[in-house]
Amino acid sequence: MADLEIRDLHVTVDKQPILRGISLDVNRGELVAIMGPNGSGKSTLAATLLGSPTITITKGMITFLGKDITTLAPDKRAKLGLFLSFQYPAAIPGVSVSNFLRTAVGAVTGTHPDPVRFHALLKETMASLKIDPAFASRALNEGFSGGEKKQTEILQLLMLKPKLAILDEVDSGLDVDSVKIVAEGVQRLVSPAFGALVITHYQRLLDYLTPHTVNIMINGKFVKSGGPELVAAIEKQGYDWLKPPPPL
Ligand SMILES: Nc1ncnc2c1ncn2[C@@H]1O[C@H](COP(=O)(O)OP(=O)(O)O)[C@@H](O)[C@H]1O
Ligand SMILES: [Mg+2]
Repeated sequence: MADLEIRDLHVTVDKQPILRGISLDVNRGELVAIMGPNGSGKSTLAATLLGSPTITITKGMITFLGKDITTLAPDKRAKLGLFLSFQYPAAIPGVSVSNFLRTAVGAVTGTHPDPVRFHALLKETMASLKIDPAFASRALNEGFSGGEKKQTEILQLLMLKPKLAILDEVDSGLDVDSVKIVAEGVQRLVSPAFGALVITHYQRLLDYLTPHTVNIMINGKFVKSGGPELVAAIEKQGYDWLKPPPPL
């Protein structure tokens, strides 16, 4: 049994069918990529894995570490070790990045991280991502650029040490150098204790990540799966060759 199993998932948003039979396995130690044109349902899948209330599962099942999480609340998923990007997108006035991260780690692990040790680890982690140490004192998301929001997200990932991460368009709004740092940060994490499902529209993120499998989603279904060579094929030919022919 895979760590994360998605089986024949059908999802509607506002009664519109968006995911139409998605099955996928992701294990710790693996980096699994999902690519596809805009509007194909990639973010809807991420929202479904997050347990977003805006989506309706009409069929299928999601299990994580053998537990049925299809209808489990988002915070309980996080406690099981699932990390979902965009977990805390709102600006929280007066809360610094570092306090936010310490609270998030405390909430997920059910402990109160020691402030001194936490800040030492945070400083080290920020240095590894080449983030200015002053960033830790900034108020969370207040006036953050797209890139700074992504930096917070990746910091959160590195500090939370989840078992499995779902990363949706983690490269959007980042310049080329930042994409490289973020991608290398994720790649470095992959180990027998950590796996990631990386969702991206563009291939540039995959310039620095080596996925075990690449799955192409079009119109709410996977139309092709393969190895990293698929990324190069899409870079060259786009997605049109993978689109099913229109019905007669
Ligand atoms: N909140 C929503 N209400 C209605 N339709 C939505 C909503 N969110 C997404 N959709 C539709 O679902 C489809 C898939 O969108 P999305 O999952 O964001 O695709 P992707 O991430 O692959 O670009 C699109 O046709 C989009 O218009
Ligand atoms: Mg999307």
